[in-house]
Amino acid sequence: MADNNLSQSTQNASVDKDVLLQVKNLAKYFSVNSSLRKSHRKYLKAVDDISFQIKKGETFGLVGESGCGKSTTGRTILRLYEPTAGQIMYNGVDLSPLSDRQMLPYRKKMQMIFQDPYASLNGRMTVNDIIGEGIETHDLYKGAEKTERIYDLVNHVGLKKEHVNRYPHEFSGGQRQRIGIARALAVEPELVICDEPISALDVSVQAQVVNMLEDLQNEMGLTYLFIAHDLSMVKHISDRIGVMYVGKLMEVCNSELLYENPLHPYTQALLSAIPIPDPIVTRNNQRIILEGDVQSPINPLPGCRFATRCMYKQDICTQVTPELRELESDHFVACHLVEEINK
Ligand SMILES: Nc1ncnc2c1ncn2[C@@H]1O[C@H](COP(=O)(O)OP(=O)(O)OP(=O)(O)O)[C@@H](O)[C@H]1O
Ligand code: SF4
Ligand SMILES: [Mg+2]
Repeated sequence: MADNNLSQSTQNASVDKDVLLQVKNLAKYFSVNSSLRKSHRKYLKAVDDISFQIKKGETFGLVGESGCGKSTTGRTILRLYEPTAGQIMYNGVDLSPLSDRQMLPYRKKMQMIFQDPYASLNGRMTVNDIIGEGIETHDLYKGAEKTERIYDLVNHVGLKKEHVNRYPHEFSGGQRQRIGIARALAVEPELVICDEPISALDVSVQAQVVNMLEDLQNEMGLTYLFIAHDLSMVKHISDRIGVMYVGKLMEVCNSELLYENPLHPYTQALLSAIPIPDPIVTRNNQRIILEGDVQSPINPLPGCRFATRCMYKQDICTQVTPELRELESDHFVACHLVEEINK
């Protein structure tokens, strides 16, 4: 697989003690007609050769339209899905070949908060059992100590002691998400994959949950992979951001620079769609309306995945897949014509 520039820079980072997670050329393909002969088989390339790294204590935002592969990336990092190719380096250890038993300590270190707080909680378990399950699996606390730990966790996420004997259906959406967060934190993780944790919640509670996640991060020294649909949602919380499109990373950059100076045509279009709250301030660029179809991740066309919608497309774009290249410090872009477009 290609991606030499980023591979080189991420390899250098493998000795970097600041890096907690390093994803190298990760791919996850789903077979969509497995009964046919191998040569006729079709694959849905949900995640296709992506590389990025997350530093200890930071929040890495992963954004992109529905179906671009964000959740699959999160699930493959946790080995809930087996990777088709690539490496998942956690503190320098490649998780991709580990057996279930070998993965167990890493399952404690890495937890996930899900988009739908109702579907992700077992409706027949009390809050006490939901939060206590991981504590038992990893043999962390027993008896009175375990009870105290559960009280401490519910308190940390803004719930009350008396809530522990209730069932998920007795709570609001925001409260259920707090239970999901307490469950994730119960095993004292280092990395939390937050998969659109607020998108199913009322706007009125979204900010509360984000603020709480930030407070918990500061208090517990957590590292977040924060998945969201659009850039406006991750702007506030992310230190660095990856923009995904049909299974590929198009741009990876520190958050401030990405909003100031987006270089990929897809990121530029996404940012142009974010309304500016101050009526006096106007954005330099007009809103970019993307035309053309989003291509299917099933046997995608050669070349750039964005070519079907890109106004700058040239012949090379449909022939050669652009690699993610570091154009300035901590700013990676996958576009053949990026220099020309941003002259
Ligand atoms: N278990 C699976 N089997 C087959 N295809 C899958 C599976 N999970 C996801 N996909 C497909 O992989 C692609 C990426 O899906 P994924 O759920 O990762 O996207 P997403 O970016 O998280 O989308 P959303 O924003 O809607 O949550 C989609 O085309 C989806 O249909
Ligand atoms: S590689 Fe070509 S099609 Fe892809 S974003 Fe750049 S200019 Fe557009
Ligand atoms: Mg998803």
